[in-house]
Amino acid sequence: MSDTKFDIVVIGSGPGGYVAAIRAAQLGFKVACIEKEKTLGGTCLNVGCIPSKSLLHSSESYSWLKHEAEQNGILCQKPSFDFDKMQSNKEEVVKGLTQGVASLFKHNNITAIQGKAKFVSTHMLEVTSKDGKSIIEATNFILATGSEPIPLPFLPFDEKTIVSSTGALALKNVPKKLLVIGGGVIGVELASVYNRLGSEVTIIEMLDQICAGMDDAISKGLLQSLKKQGITFHLKSKATEAKVKKEKIQLKVLIEDKSQTVEGNVVLVAVGRRPYSFGLGLEEINVKLEKGVVVVDNNFRTTQKHIFAIGDLIDGPMLAHKASEEGYAVAEIIAGKNTAVNYLAIPNIIYTHPEGASIGLTEKEARSKNLDIVVGNVSFRGNSRARCNLDTEGFVKVIGAGPKRHLVGMHIMGAQASELINSAVVAIEKQTTLHEIATSLIGHPTLSESIKEACGAALKCAVHSL
Ligand code: NAI
Repeated sequence: MSDTKFDIVVIGSGPGGYVAAIRAAQLGFKVACIEKEKTLGGTCLNVGCIPSKSLLHSSESYSWLKHEAEQNGILCQKPSFDFDKMQSNKEEVVKGLTQGVASLFKHNNITAIQGKAKFVSTHMLEVTSKDGKSIIEATNFILATGSEPIPLPFLPFDEKTIVSSTGALALKNVPKKLLVIGGGVIGVELASVYNRLGSEVTIIEMLDQICAGMDDAISKGLLQSLKKQGITFHLKSKATEAKVKKEKIQLKVLIEDKSQTVEGNVVLVAVGRRPYSFGLGLEEINVKLEKGVVVVDNNFRTTQKHIFAIGDLIDGPMLAHKASEEGYAVAEIIAGKNTAVNYLAIPNIIYTHPEGASIGLTEKEARSKNLDIVVGNVSFRGNSRARCNLDTEGFVKVIGAGPKRHLVGMHIMGAQASELINSAVVAIEKQTTLHEIATSLIGHPTLSESIKEACGAALKCAVHSL
């Protein structure tokens, strides 16, 4: 085969694409991965999950020093921070991880091609880079181009004062007043970063709750907690117009149907993301799209049988770990293996403090399906480790269904919820019952004991709660 002909070409090198490329190479295919940006890793590594978690960690550490240290017996006079250093740490983390993907590609003999790919026929791509155009051919293709932030028509991104998550992660200074449109996961995470660093933050959310996809207990609990931390919320509110004068933005907002003006120095628009499916020439080769979403069957095949699509491009939650699982599965499917993704066990995490983490059915979903359920809910106030950590805000809520009370949902708000939720992935995957979890021997003292306790509470046999 020539250097321009491959068994599999993956378009996009995010957590979906790079995992697909590596698994395909491990399975013996000759693989290329085409990426339009300079570095590998896609949105997650470069301008999403990773840089946001770096800034969340730095700002949370600062906030802890400022508000919690003294209570822990640690005296530091007037803690302060260096925002440039926080930003350069973030860039170092991103650099290390994106270089890590490059070295995994090298190790697995994957050809990384920098450029923008477009189908010119069903088996041929034209790749445009700074060096010109080239043609790449393949037997199979995996589309993994991800998604992009949705702009508001009256607030086009300039990534300086009107920013998407990308611009918000790269601000040069902490804004005095930050307006956030959208109280979803991006909205509350980035609002947390800048609120901790001293911005006056206002979130404008269309619905009557924030983080609407989560269980109501988390949406309500987080709203209460973030309000206490100093973030202002306008719910049932919609921005309708904007006046932008350099670093002063006036937004006209319909707050519960009354028009008001709110002012800020930076506006973060975080009203969702849309599949990045345009410009690939898909319609021209009869790959079906529905409102930009690439239509696939259960094996990730598009309407062209040798072209597969995964991640944010297809239906389902726009989450890095969902894309990675699909990337792994699609490579195996192309190799003739019978691999599937379990969509019932996808954790959904919000990295605020306290963190929110959800998996499986919410209580509302379980009730709307008329399932016979039991619900157990325990507060971290009753957990000895949380007490030692002087961090008892939050709860664990579990939902068991059916005669055997299989775990069908777990919802956690609290410190380390992002780590705790992953035990539920295995439990749901393996169809574990609440009784099995409630009678497992869990290390003491740990936050995980609250999971055991919540299962016990659902079955009315919890020892440590009333
Ligand atoms: P989102 O869908 O989570 O939230 C958008 C929010 O904006 C919704 O609450 C919606 O009601 C509100 N909204 C929409 N139009 C509005 C308007 N005109 N005015 C006021 N509010 C409006 O979307 P978000 O936060 O932008 O995140 C995009 C995707 O990125 C999500 O699918 C998310 O799963 C993913 N992501 C995941 C992270 C994680 O796992 N921790 C972190 C960041 C992003």
